[in-house]
Amino acid sequence: MSSAAFAQRRILVIGQRLSTIAEQALPGAQFEVAGPDAFDGQARLAAPADLVLIDAGAGDPARLASLIGALAQSAPQPAAILVGSHLPVVVARALLKLKRSDVLDQPVSLPDLARCAAALLADGSGVLEAVHASQCWSILSAVGGAGGTTLSIELATTLAARTLGDRVALVDLNLADGAAGAYLGSAANMHLADASAAPERIDAALLDAFSVRVGGGFDLFACPRDPLAFSKVTPAAVLRLLEAACQVYDWLLLDLPRGRQPWTADVLAGSDQILVVSELTVPALLAARALSHEIEAELPDRAHPRIILNRMAGRMFGPAPSRGEAEKALGRKVDGVITSDWEAASCSANLGGPISQHRPRSKIVRDVAAIAEDLITGGHARGAKAA
Ligand SMILES: Nc1ncnc2c1ncn2[C@@H]1O[C@H](COP(=O)(O)OP(=O)(O)OP(=O)(O)O)[C@@H](O)[C@H]1O
Ligand SMILES: [Mg+2]
Repeated sequence: MSSAAFAQRRILVIGQRLSTIAEQALPGAQFEVAGPDAFDGQARLAAPADLVLIDAGAGDPARLASLIGALAQSAPQPAAILVGSHLPVVVARALLKLKRSDVLDQPVSLPDLARCAAALLADGSGVLEAVHASQCWSILSAVGGAGGTTLSIELATTLAARTLGDRVALVDLNLADGAAGAYLGSAANMHLADASAAPERIDAALLDAFSVRVGGGFDLFACPRDPLAFSKVTPAAVLRLLEAACQVYDWLLLDLPRGRQPWTADVLAGSDQILVVSELTVPALLAARALSHEIEAELPDRAHPRIILNRMAGRMFGPAPSRGEAEKALGRKVDGVITSDWEAASCSANLGGPISQHRPRSKIVRDVAAIAEDLITGGHARGAKAA
């Protein structure tokens, strides 16, 4: 690997002291400097590091060992170089858990560091390509009852049917009182509060235990009802769950709560699509407008929320705004509409299962299929989250 090949590589440096020499030895790489306790799920979800450089003097041995243990659990697993002399046994043993690691003596020379980094990165050159290319779509309701959960369920069902063979999951992130399980007549097995004690243990096997296969042909992740769930579940657990799910599933639908959580921005930043669901009332349209602005302000480079108008009905049923008037109130165009069909929606909720299962000829099913098709083929897909 020539030094030009360090370009595009993401290097996480643990310990400020190492950062100057790292920047000189690995020109063109993108650096992030952090302390030994700063490697959490957020960093991994937004942009996994290719290589982690660790200053052995940056923290006590137990803390370094737990940092390296967290690296070993992450997917994709980065390479790591530990720089220091007289390594404690606990740190050396932790390094053995990594597939690609090396140790350099202190003080380290520029050529030694460059050679060592190049060898490890070349070794794992296939790793980035091997990352599972999942699509993650987040769905938020602008106001309560706008239809976010209904859209999430119907999109998951549509994608499972359309992509035969692809693995599809719906994660209900309304951790306290999510309704997706009830709408689908399914159990809620996602014990995220328990998993919060050791989020690094969330892996494919635990995902299996957390999920339930539902009638729509996809896996549902939903928490048992618990009014205190939002305070019990840590951001690291939520982000680690989603990261692991991205490795397992081809399509991930996230039913997000309207209320902002400490992990909301990270989840949205990692999403390929953000759908804001509104109904055709002035308060809902204004809320959708405000929510979209908030998302764009927080994630300026990445987020372009799309507006879905739900429960569209003819004007004969009341003085609802037209689509054009709605777009004026929203200050942007509408990306999809879903016809109102109370009979189909309530019958399916009462029977337990997607509308596409109980009322396949409902206009809701047709409209959601058109939205999915448009998102997949209409050039909307944004590509890899880590890009
Ligand atoms: N297109 C539609 N036509 C008729 N009824 C619908 C439609 N979409 C959703 N509904 C019904 O509206 C109600 C609210 O829908 P849903 O639970 O999906 O909204 P939500 O935004 O997720 O609500 P919450 O704010 O509680 O999370 C449900 O009874 C659902 O069956
Ligand atoms: Mg909901």
